[in-house]
Amino acid sequence: MKNKNILITGGLGFIGSHIANELLKDNEVIILDDLSTGNINNLKNPSDENLKLIIKDIRDADLDDITSNIDYIFHLAAMASVPLSIDKPVECSDINLNATVKLLKSSADNNVKKVIFSSSSSVYGQNKNMPLKETEQPMPMSPYAASKASCELYLNSFYDSYGLNYTALRYFNVFGPGQDKNSQYAAVIPNFISALLEGKQPEIYGDGEQTRDFVYIDDVVKANINAAKSDYNGIINVASGEKISINQLYEVVKTTLESDVEPKYLPTRQGDIKHSLADISKMEKINFKVDSSDFENQLQETVNWFKTIL
Ligand SMILES: NC(=O)c1ccc[n+]([C@@H]2O[C@H](COP(=O)([O-])OP(=O)(O)OC[C@H]3O[C@@H](n4cnc5c(N)ncnc54)[C@H](O)[C@@H]3O)[C@@H](O)[C@H]2O)c1
Repeated sequence: MKNKNILITGGLGFIGSHIANELLKDNEVIILDDLSTGNINNLKNPSDENLKLIIKDIRDADLDDITSNIDYIFHLAAMASVPLSIDKPVECSDINLNATVKLLKSSADNNVKKVIFSSSSSVYGQNKNMPLKETEQPMPMSPYAASKASCELYLNSFYDSYGLNYTALRYFNVFGPGQDKNSQYAAVIPNFISALLEGKQPEIYGDGEQTRDFVYIDDVVKANINAAKSDYNGIINVASGEKISINQLYEVVKTTLESDVEPKYLPTRQGDIKHSLADISKMEKINFKVDSSDFENQLQETVNWFKTIL
């Protein structure tokens, strides 16, 4: 993608900043972010001449003006935490859903070429038909998941009503350099790595036999850019299509860090699903595939990055 005008909402967060770093090489990029969980230092070059930063809550931003000259939108700004959405469901719906509908209306009015939406595997919720295909029934178990599922419906309705192109990418468990370890809602890989590097005992909820499907940040960036380039409208899982149990994951992290610390097992968390695994056959619609055989190298890259910040 070259010489395009791009808007990245949530572009200072973990995933958004990686997308921005890639697109800033050859495009004009506007980032809209309120810094609630994002950080300017996530960008390789915050003073890049191709970058315009708008530090504002998406709920208060003039989206008609911001989208007026935009070709592609990568929409990532969100309350991105399941537990926080359970504490604050109304705020979650305001940020994740209402602001998205406003963004879509402005995008349609301004003839934006395509919106790439960051959705989530959490929309599958209680659905146990593994591996999960995009056509499976969404069964959201949290306000966060419900907001993402609702946004997908709105995207489709804007495609039908106004011809606004979109791809909704349902990320499974994303990991890689830049992931926040300080958040009280930090994901399992940063939790394990930072605990071991800090000499603490990592915590596992439940018996650790729950499985997840992890996908590396560089693949998520590629999926976003390929989706923008493709003429596919609809929903796509973004995952490795491989399952790994939390206990197995812990063993790999432990080996990578040459540690012999055993984890502490805590009671299962309310709302945690037992298994999550994607059917990834639809990713070819956006000409995208991941190389999951690289998992250990990707984990090593992640560990190396954590060592630089601790
Ligand atoms: N990380 C994952 O594994 C994962 C999985 C599925 C879906 N997602 C989705 O991907 C997107 C990015 O996730 P992430 O992991 O990078 O999270 P993140 O918290 O690092 O990034 C979210 C960004 O949005 C910004 N933001 C939040 N509320 C805002 C508001 N009201 N106005 C403007 N900006 C706001 C934050 O400051 C942050 O920079 C989110 O939409 C999230 O729901 C992430």
